[in-house]
Amino acid sequence: MRRPFICGNWKMNKNILETKAFIEAIKKVSYSKDIEVGLAPVFTNLSLAKELLKGSDIKLCAQNVHFMSNGAYTGEISAPMLKEIGLDYIIIGHSERRTYFAETNETVNQKIKASITNNLKVIFCIGETLAERENEKTFMVINEQLELGLKDINRDDILKYITIAYEPVWAIGTGKTATVEQASEVHSYIRNSLNYKFQSSGSELRILYGGSVSPDNIKALMLDDEIDGALVGGASLKVESFKSLITYNL
Ligand code: PGA
Repeated sequence: MRRPFICGNWKMNKNILETKAFIEAIKKVSYSKDIEVGLAPVFTNLSLAKELLKGSDIKLCAQNVHFMSNGAYTGEISAPMLKEIGLDYIIIGHSERRTYFAETNETVNQKIKASITNNLKVIFCIGETLAERENEKTFMVINEQLELGLKDINRDDILKYITIAYEPVWAIGTGKTATVEQASEVHSYIRNSLNYKFQSSGSELRILYGGSVSPDNIKALMLDDEIDGALVGGASLKVESFKSLITYNL
């Protein structure tokens, strides 16, 4: 049974006061415990969020990690440091990190390994650009991202630590959601490919969809058997809309 997971990725948004106000409000929302809920605030508010989330089931996530444990890497934060805060997941390989911060499939792979070594779960983001989709390269790109991103990671660790987020780059922050059919088709491809590469792990692994998920489309997306949840940017920033997302089934 794959437990649905809805995670808000706040990106570079929300100061201390806004983080506090949001978490205090969302903690009061009752949602089905069948669903796992997560939030990814900025690094500087992770400790505060951890404190505020005490007594709630909402998972705490980081938006990035460096693959080394420590050393001369100005401006970076390591997995052991995140571990100390006591968070649950790290989002790795988000397309904004790949595009603006030159992350490659190889560094993504190193980051995933560092997270696993430190017993931290990973939301591993993959997805094609519009040009790649238009040139019918979607499956090729997805396959390469999976192959290289999960290189040298064994099946047990994949099952224990990895959640995949399929986020077509052209749908992120654009208001242009992939149709349920488009998302479902790629999710099914990812699942088959994982089944092949890692001995039927694909059927057990959660695959979230991300890209302009909103209160208007969450139900239709979640009704599809292939879609196990959502990684949400814009619609996770307001309490009302995030509340609608996490209570989509009530
Ligand atoms: P969006 O972002 O929901 O604003 O499209 C999704 C994401 O970047 O994870």
